[in-house]
Amino acid sequence: MKIFLDTANLDELRKGASWGILDGVTTNPSLIAKEGIPLEEQIRRICDIVDGDISAEVVATKADEMIKEAYSLAKLHPNVVVKVPLTRDGIQTTAKLSKEGIRFNVTLCFSAGQALLAAKAGAYIVSPFVGRLDDISQEGMTLIRDIMTIYGNYGYQTQVLAASLRSPLHVAQAAQAGAHIGTLPFKVLDMLFNHPLTDKGLDQFLKDYTKVFQETPVAG
Ligand code: E4P
Repeated sequence: MKIFLDTANLDELRKGASWGILDGVTTNPSLIAKEGIPLEEQIRRICDIVDGDISAEVVATKADEMIKEAYSLAKLHPNVVVKVPLTRDGIQTTAKLSKEGIRFNVTLCFSAGQALLAAKAGAYIVSPFVGRLDDISQEGMTLIRDIMTIYGNYGYQTQVLAASLRSPLHVAQAAQAGAHIGTLPFKVLDMLFNHPLTDKGLDQFLKDYTKVFQETPVAG
């Protein structure tokens, strides 16, 4: 599974990229607003840090305006993937511009039927939101499995990006379900490294080694 960071924060992206396992980035208007830098400028900065797909979301809601925004976002950098919401206008924009080679991430997907529409429109990525479904007491991971089945049935090439992942367990479950991509807040990526037995084991290895090779023997 490809691992993306779900952030527009440059420090988090630099740190994540330094670990050598980062495949891309997703942003949304809320994440961009948090950084206080205009969308296009922040996307350019992100493209300088991470070499991989970078999702940049339109803020227009009508197809004619979305199309203009999509052209201008796609021009920013070859790695930009234009993100549109799963609405009639978003699907219309995706269907029209995918044919011209612009890559789309269709976001805010909450049902398997919606995901079918994204694939039919030629989306490069669809983003089903796991955590936000869990929040309303629906099993978010079931949606990932259902979309994988549907896309497999028909050989759709659209990549399934498990979004709104809130914990290391979500990440492992998304990978088990076969999601092509998981996008993680920095905190979740950082937590993914942790295991108490790794810390305990390393501590013991180093103690054992130091006892023999680095401690001055006590004269007897
Ligand atoms: C995905 O592209 C979204 O930006 C993100 O995963 C949403 O996550 P949240 O539900 O934790 O805000």
